[in-house]
Amino acid sequence: MDDRNKPIGVFDSGIGGLTVAGEIMKLLPNEDIIYFGDTARVPYGSKSPEVVTQFAFEGLRFLIRQDVKLIVVACNTISATCLDELCKSSPVPVIGVIEPGARAAAKATKNNTVGVIGTERTVKSGAYENAIHRLNDRVNIYAKACPLFVPLVEEGWLENEAAFYTARIYLEPLKEFKIDTLVLACTHYPLLKKTLQRVMGPNVKLVDSGEETAIEVQRILREKDLEKKSEVLGFHQYFVSDNPTKFVRVGENFLKRPIDPINVIDPQI
Ligand code: SIN
Repeated sequence: MDDRNKPIGVFDSGIGGLTVAGEIMKLLPNEDIIYFGDTARVPYGSKSPEVVTQFAFEGLRFLIRQDVKLIVVACNTISATCLDELCKSSPVPVIGVIEPGARAAAKATKNNTVGVIGTERTVKSGAYENAIHRLNDRVNIYAKACPLFVPLVEEGWLENEAAFYTARIYLEPLKEFKIDTLVLACTHYPLLKKTLQRVMGPNVKLVDSGEETAIEVQRILREKDLEKKSEVLGFHQYFVSDNPTKFVRVGENFLKRPIDPINVIDPQI
């Protein structure tokens, strides 16, 4: 098969990568996409680097077996833990979400005061601080782990009182630093955008890596002459490792597109 007609692979621990896949679908509507969400083992963010790396390699190998032309690691925890190792061992280009997210933050801040919220692993890694400082070393960064956000999103509790009070407890301390930009350094968090904005108020800009990552995908496909040459709309296939019904319910509500077909797979095989 002509490499240009192969699908793009997108991988996350669960449903959050749809926030990136959705931006790729908008920007590159003709591209085919294979999405894998490791819903049996989500969340990754509170696991050790060794375990995250093992799961990440299983996801990578699954997508390579699907004969994809490029892989988007739409998970900040993996991107912060082992992106370089994945890139080195992959026969196709691999893109993470941290550099694109950092670019979005550096563009958005006016007062050089930025909050970063993510999983325990992402925050511990300091990956966002490093990436933002490479772009602008005058930015003051205040990072906070919000481990309960991923289970809330996987449950589909996006705008109820449980989501609001959890967000208030996590985010109140960040408001005191007068941040003007809050980086959603976990691909699950854009699903909570309305609640997070309600807590932070209208003057704080919420940024995530979805749009910038889609632009990066387009750039690499062009550079490597891998863009699909077709006017036909792309075909999107979904794979999860457990609980497809919940994935479809929450995912369709967010994507506003049918999640079909969906298959359950064991990434360890
Ligand atoms: C998680 O699995 O804990 C969240 C994924 C991410 O960091 O984007």
